[in-house]
Amino acid sequence: MLAGKRIVLGVTGGIAAYKAVEVCRRLVDAGAHVVPVMTAGAEHFVGRTTLSALASEPVQTSLWNEASPIPHTRLGQTADLIVVAPATARLLAAYAAGLSTDLLTNTLLATRAPVVVCPAMHTEMWEHPAVQANIATLRSRGVHVVEPESGRLAGGDIGHGRLAAPEVIVAAVEQVLSQGPWAGLHVVVSAGGTREPIDAVRVIANRSSGKQGYAIAAEAAARGARVTLVSTVDLPVPPGTEVQAVETAAQMEAVLTELAPTADVVVMAAAVADFRPVAAAEGKIKKHDGVPQIVLEPTPDILAGLGATKPQGQVLVGFAAETSDLLANAQSKLERKRLDLIVANDVAAPGVGFQHDTNAVTLLRADGVAHHVPLTDKRSIARAVLDTVSEIRGEAHTPAT
Ligand code: CTP
Repeated sequence: MLAGKRIVLGVTGGIAAYKAVEVCRRLVDAGAHVVPVMTAGAEHFVGRTTLSALASEPVQTSLWNEASPIPHTRLGQTADLIVVAPATARLLAAYAAGLSTDLLTNTLLATRAPVVVCPAMHTEMWEHPAVQANIATLRSRGVHVVEPESGRLAGGDIGHGRLAAPEVIVAAVEQVLSQGPWAGLHVVVSAGGTREPIDAVRVIANRSSGKQGYAIAAEAAARGARVTLVSTVDLPVPPGTEVQAVETAAQMEAVLTELAPTADVVVMAAAVADFRPVAAAEGKIKKHDGVPQIVLEPTPDILAGLGATKPQGQVLVGFAAETSDLLANAQSKLERKRLDLIVANDVAAPGVGFQHDTNAVTLLRADGVAHHVPLTDKRSIARAVLDTVSEIRGEAHTPAT
């Protein structure tokens, strides 16, 4: 469950901060990529070096001392989960009030990932109505709370308020990550443009970068799905996804035909070549042999094939890259290929589609519902696509996790 997950470990200034070291080690042992974020208070109790050595990741402490100009949004946006252990009364109050005072509170406010807080404080503080009201507020917003335990507290007192044991915290993190309507679903995503060989060195290719497909795969994995990415490109593998590398339309068709019958969701984001040379020359075609006459044949329409054999309950999503008559062309592809959803993008518009980091799309459902998503980053497009898939599957809309 934790393998490849990116977890922000927030550590605040309580004596129990030393136990965060053990939480960090257990998360790392379970395969998670841990990004420690310490408050100024935490540094009185535990050294940066300890956490950064265990996490193999520099500890983040400030909004201002990083090369990246906006670490608070970047950390929150890229996290699969944020766990704060220990969470002091002060941190809980700031988070409940929506107060951004430091990197950790900024990160908590700038994330859509699930958040787990693990309070630790003296019994009197834990039982104070203000603290309990903040806990209730956070719970009502979907924040997961790992209750403190009873036991020996700092100073020798015995009572309620001791940080939960590291193994309890890690188990809570695992449980949260396995929740939600996407947990356990198998999502297959194709990405990138196919390359059809002309000879041993030349190919027919297209301008697809694969970025939109990778963003969809990353988002599905972050929501807890098992994701297989059938890809022609060499981009960083999103955490929690398995990549099957292919090059040609024929190879992509073979892999998808095998995977699709048992998949819950198939998203065909790849730009498949429509034509390929009938036969690739074995060696390299030499210039002195004259200009080659390349005879083309159509490739199989993979998506239409998947639509024709779609199992009951599967949601099949296609893309339509158009330069004119966007909605009419997309609607016709939706019907012809028997899709549940088509993502239509006008690739002639500025900042849209191929090779950009941004996209603007219209989501057309088979039942006629249409939703326009104006120009935004490809991960946000991915969220909109997956939210619509959730709606089609009949589930309540859930925020990205
Ligand atoms: N597609 C496919 N196999 C093909 C061609 C396209 O699976 N041989 C899929 C694409 O992955 C995309 C959808 O079909 O999800 C629409 O692709 P697009 O290129 O927009 O449409 P085409 O059907 O190829 O029609 P045209 O090129 O004429 O617009």
